[in-house]
Amino acid sequence: MKQAKAFAPASVGNVAVGFDVLGQALDGPGDTATVTLMSSGVVVVKAIRGCPHALPLEAAANTAGRALQSLLAHAPEGAGFEVELDKGIALGSGMGGSAASAVAALVAGNALLPTPVSLSVLYQAAMDGEAAASGSRHGDNVAPSLLGGLVIAPAEGEPVRVPVPSWLFVALVHPHAVLETKRARAALAGSYALSEFVHQSERLAVFLAGCHAADAALLRRGLEDVLVEPRRAPLIPGFAEVKAAALRAGALGASISGAGPSVFAWCEGRAQAQAAADAMVAAFGAAGLKADAFVSVGAAPGARVVAR
Ligand code: HSE
Repeated sequence: MKQAKAFAPASVGNVAVGFDVLGQALDGPGDTATVTLMSSGVVVVKAIRGCPHALPLEAAANTAGRALQSLLAHAPEGAGFEVELDKGIALGSGMGGSAASAVAALVAGNALLPTPVSLSVLYQAAMDGEAAASGSRHGDNVAPSLLGGLVIAPAEGEPVRVPVPSWLFVALVHPHAVLETKRARAALAGSYALSEFVHQSERLAVFLAGCHAADAALLRRGLEDVLVEPRRAPLIPGFAEVKAAALRAGALGASISGAGPSVFAWCEGRAQAQAAADAMVAAFGAAGLKADAFVSVGAAPGARVVAR
């Protein structure tokens, strides 16, 4: 029996200024997929563990199942996959759980193929999986989960890696509340002024310059989302106080992780990230929400095969 197990990390989508385009891997939380090569010609989602909410077992509606269906198009005639998922990322948390499941399944499935597919094929298949879960084909969680680090996730072609300063640490706080991506995306409907677009573009450009120069002052100026955050903030209890707490702890910037409700902060060093995480947990507590905190290196590793 040919079987492989892969782990894919959680991620921060958008990274404040790059809506649907920038994403960053987190060290620690993640999903694991165990994939078995079959001769059935189909994909079967056999089990999902570690998730209190029911997730679809029908392959086409499941993020990992849908991604593996896309990979099957590149597998030898008659090949099939059976997948078991161990969820380590809470559903609707804004930590890229659907992306991690798709990526873990693909990395395990790819390891079983006689001729593994390219990164761009894996990336496109992962976005197919993401679309099955969130209703939108965006790569800002699948790309960092696949590659690690901070990446630009284009609609076509391979993701582009962006360097991060060696001293960068990320604090991420996950309040115990569920915010569905579809609902968070619905909050963005409506028109946008050209001036808002220009303002956000300026921030994104300054942010990317700051990443390349490892310049904390530029990152502090660039890490501000003027487009999406104001429209989603009302969906997250205590958001303004949580963000302010991270900034008071010295963070370079803080914003919503992906679609939320998790909040992340970019920090200079592990100690500052821990202080920001503690301050954000306390602020969520004051808003009536328990929260978990994670502190990650800035350049966290991407998905990998862990057993075969
Ligand atoms: N870029 C996405 C969003 C991430 O913010 O809606 C969540 O899947």
